[in-house]
Amino acid sequence: MNNLTVEIDKLSKTFVSVKRRAVVIPTSKKEVEALKSVSLDIPRGNVYGLLGPNGAGKTTLVKTLATLVLPTSGTARVLDHDILKQPEYVRAVIGVCQGNERSIYWKLSARENLVFFGKLYRMTQSEAKERADELLGMMGLLEKADEKAEALSHGMRMKIVFARALLHDPEVLLLDEPTQGLDPTFATDLRNHIKRELSHKTILLTTHYMHEADMLCDKIALINEGEIKSLGTPHELKEDVRNYDSLHIRVVGIPDINPIKAMPEVMSASSTSRNGHAELVVTAQDGYDLAHRILNVLHEDQNLKVEHFEVKEPTLDDVFLKLTGRRIED
Ligand SMILES: Nc1ncnc2c1ncn2[C@@H]1O[C@H](COP(=O)(O)OP(=O)(O)OP(=O)(O)O)[C@@H](O)[C@H]1O
Ligand SMILES: [Mg+2]
Repeated sequence: MNNLTVEIDKLSKTFVSVKRRAVVIPTSKKEVEALKSVSLDIPRGNVYGLLGPNGAGKTTLVKTLATLVLPTSGTARVLDHDILKQPEYVRAVIGVCQGNERSIYWKLSARENLVFFGKLYRMTQSEAKERADELLGMMGLLEKADEKAEALSHGMRMKIVFARALLHDPEVLLLDEPTQGLDPTFATDLRNHIKRELSHKTILLTTHYMHEADMLCDKIALINEGEIKSLGTPHELKEDVRNYDSLHIRVVGIPDINPIKAMPEVMSASSTSRNGHAELVVTAQDGYDLAHRILNVLHEDQNLKVEHFEVKEPTLDDVFLKLTGRRIED
């Protein structure tokens, strides 16, 4: 049997939006290349992360694999079945969780939602109810089982959306930003659940959160503007920037970062200001050696008070920056 559960073969997707404002005005056509010949294989039982900024193409890839969006070219296979030729088979073996609490019925209770969707997977009423209660228990939601979804918190609704994806115990899970917008406790619960209970499944998980990808994924694909820029274990990816350090500096006042950017050792420098304070992040080779020169620029040349200074290990965001020139969490 093929050990690859998901095989993505040169998938491309171009969205074409046509705007017609009035009959007399010519239509304008806008094309967005959301995916550009993406290939990626996920072996059985592996958790792969898709990490990239807004608009990188993550959701488009998930929707294409979920047979919700047709690719412009290329294809993919899930458990040896082609998404274009055998979409019904693919739908039956995948569970999809899109970070959207609207994908459940707000007027139904938590349990009624899961029973309803369970029946769509051809479960009997009693099978669906048993499975719903099992999942509600797993998510710590049994006490809320009879509450209407509209009366639950955002985090609780997201747990139902997540449970819905698990109803038919699918072999493959497509999780599109499963923890987005959740409060830290719920997000941690959900991550721990994925780590403990689901790591035997084949999972494609999209995220903006580097620590989430770091914690959960066997391998991470860094995606930007519809292209996979790099693929590796979190450790392998970080090896790429092993010689870089991230300098985090907080000053009182507004710094001019151009002299810092101009230093040859500096890969990037950014500054965000709030309430008269600025947070600078400088990524540079041998940051410790550079630190005193940067502090001199800020303190001596620009007369700014430095409140905090810290040198951190490189993160996946630094890898992303080196590869693409932009940060994931811009
Ligand atoms: N239905 C659509 N019609 C036109 N353009 C679209 C459509 N869906 C997505 N796009 C465009 O395709 C690109 C990729 O979008 P996508 O939603 O896949 O990004 P993403 O990586 O999921 O971003 P985010 O992190 O914000 O969720 C974007 O430029 C987006 O505007
Ligand atoms: Mg998205």
